[in-house]
Amino acid sequence: MKIGIPKEIKNNENRVGMTPAGVFELIKHKHTVYVQSTAGEGSGFFDADYEAVGATILPTIEDVYDAAEMIVKVKEPIAEEYPLVKPNQLLFTYFHFASSEELTLAMLKSESVCIAYETVEDPDGSLPLLTPMSEVAGRMAIQQGAKYLEKPIKGKGILLGGVPGVSPGKVLILGAGVVGIQAAKMAAGLGAHVTILDVNMKRLRYVNDIMPPHVITGFSNEYNIRKHIQTHDLIVGGVLIKGAKAPKLITRDMLKDMHPGAVIVDVAVDQGGCIETTHATTHEDPTFIIDDVVHYCVANMPGAVPYTSTVALTNVTLPYILKLANKGWEQACEEDPGLAKGLNIVHGKCVYEEINEAFGWEVSC
Ligand SMILES: NC(=O)c1ccc[n+]([C@@H]2O[C@H](COP(=O)([O-])OP(=O)(O)OC[C@H]3O[C@@H](n4cnc5c(N)ncnc54)[C@H](O)[C@@H]3O)[C@@H](O)[C@H]2O)c1
Repeated sequence: MKIGIPKEIKNNENRVGMTPAGVFELIKHKHTVYVQSTAGEGSGFFDADYEAVGATILPTIEDVYDAAEMIVKVKEPIAEEYPLVKPNQLLFTYFHFASSEELTLAMLKSESVCIAYETVEDPDGSLPLLTPMSEVAGRMAIQQGAKYLEKPIKGKGILLGGVPGVSPGKVLILGAGVVGIQAAKMAAGLGAHVTILDVNMKRLRYVNDIMPPHVITGFSNEYNIRKHIQTHDLIVGGVLIKGAKAPKLITRDMLKDMHPGAVIVDVAVDQGGCIETTHATTHEDPTFIIDDVVHYCVANMPGAVPYTSTVALTNVTLPYILKLANKGWEQACEEDPGLAKGLNIVHGKCVYEEINEAFGWEVSC
């Protein structure tokens, strides 16, 4: 198969869809790989590294989309890329369709086949291609939150870990999934008080078993959230309902109950965010303030640590890329029901129920 790796053109996105190690495996299996010139540079991989393992370097993004039967990327195509996508072309990347009707309509119109990393499943229902990025974002959420609690950037002026004689900061985490647990681990490591809320008792039991005693678990409901936001300094939004828009757990009216200078890091922004006041921001301009509460809502947090993120992502995507390239998407999905769960759009049809629900589309569009 002819596989194309375009350069990511989303703001400050320095990750790349495949490392030279991945290209090496594909070439070994007799596939042809086209890499856009400088696509890997942001992650520390140079054209010469790709050429050395047998890739063909193409000068423009148009050349790559033109030449490839399968495009392997990191982020969803942005508006400039919509016209480049061809009928029958296979796109394997993060899409997060439920948060963008514009993107969904563009991909429907393209007649391509879109397999979304974020809805590919393991047999136990977990999301293997979301996990490494959630691990990165969860850990980063505390690093960023701690920074924005500093006074010069309009935070409350709190050191999360405290010092002898001064209490540590308080971190509230919504969702005890991958993001939530990694955030809890980092916050607990800094010495902060951590409260983590979820609706899934199994997750809460697990957190309770593995975390130190200064990580407290609680059930996620409106009453508890309203109570906790009044006392916590940093709030991390890490909820997910697979493929659907995130539920709004903190509404606009609740911000007035929070401390001035408190910080929200809404990691779930890529699914619309779990805070009503969330809107997606970029690494160039990551925060905004509403009712004295600092909001950090960068939709591609792992893009800030591209080396770690690219390697972590391609470690898990490569086995699926090999299956798709070796067998074609139809046979690969037939043989692997977990990969088939990644099918979101097929030749102008939206085949993922939650996406149809998100836009109020009753029948497959
Ligand atoms: N901004 C970024 O750069 C970035 C990077 C990676 C992941 N994400 C996003 O972070 C979010 C979380 O990802 P994840 O991998 O941790 O998902 P996950 O499935 O591992 O965890 C989500 C958790 O949310 C819980 N949940 C659902 N409804 C809830 C509610 N009402 N209250 C509290 N908890 C609730 C679930 O029970 C689950 O434990 C996703 O939207 C994901 O796309 C964003």
